[in-house]
Amino acid sequence: MSEKKSIPQHVAIIMDGNGRWAKQLGKERYEGHIAGVESVRAVVRAAAKSGVRWLTLYAFSTENWGRPVEEVNAIMELFCQTVVGEAPELKKQGVSVRVMGERKRFSESVLRMIEYIESATAGGERLTLVLAFNYSSRRELLLATRHIACRVAAGELSAEDIDESVIGDSLMTRGIPDPDLIIRTSGECRLSNFLLWQASYAEFYFPEVLWPDFREEAFEEALRVYAGRDRRFGLVADSSNE
Ligand code: FPP
Repeated sequence: MSEKKSIPQHVAIIMDGNGRWAKQLGKERYEGHIAGVESVRAVVRAAAKSGVRWLTLYAFSTENWGRPVEEVNAIMELFCQTVVGEAPELKKQGVSVRVMGERKRFSESVLRMIEYIESATAGGERLTLVLAFNYSSRRELLLATRHIACRVAAGELSAEDIDESVIGDSLMTRGIPDPDLIIRTSGECRLSNFLLWQASYAEFYFPEVLWPDFREEAFEEALRVYAGRDRRFGLVADSSNE
């Protein structure tokens, strides 16, 4: 039984290459992130237009706190500015925003912006934009494991009851379908702690283009590549499709 649905329901993107883009043009790294926001806008528009229902963007990993403090601050600032500035347009396009990641390390102002964008766009039904912000998949799995262990210890659940849906419901992606297509820009071919559980049957696409140059046309090309893939989910090709 091979699965051929031409439009992926969920696209997840590792937005990589902002720093290299800036360096190539003799600019500062933060200028690459500023240019990257324009790609975020373009890709959200393109995803909504093409019928994608879930779009996850890896905007800041737990490991990214280790970057120079100026760069971390610039990304936090850019995130807040973008969230405030884009809210009306996102609402108009029917996009709801969900921010995924651990919140305890954020400043008060970043926390306020996260709460603002989630409530301002709640109810948007065309596309859910999931922003992975202070996210890491191993940390997500660790927290899920602790949560399940506590439930077992409290007698709410027995060890035999733990199945894939119990694990899935304990992850930060609870309620979000697994990604069908994972894109990483800039030619790097690795997951970098992104959606390790959820990526089990995702299709991967690694274009060479740097994130600030990944715009509507590049997104549409990714969808074309995806449409040509044959997804078998560990089964054999369906003879009726041949
Ligand atoms: C990766 O490029 C990019 C990031 C770690 C930050 C992405 C952030 C934004 C685009 C801005 C805020 C986002 C939203 C959703 C409003 P890199 O710096 O690792 O590039 P390099 O590998 O070339 O150094």
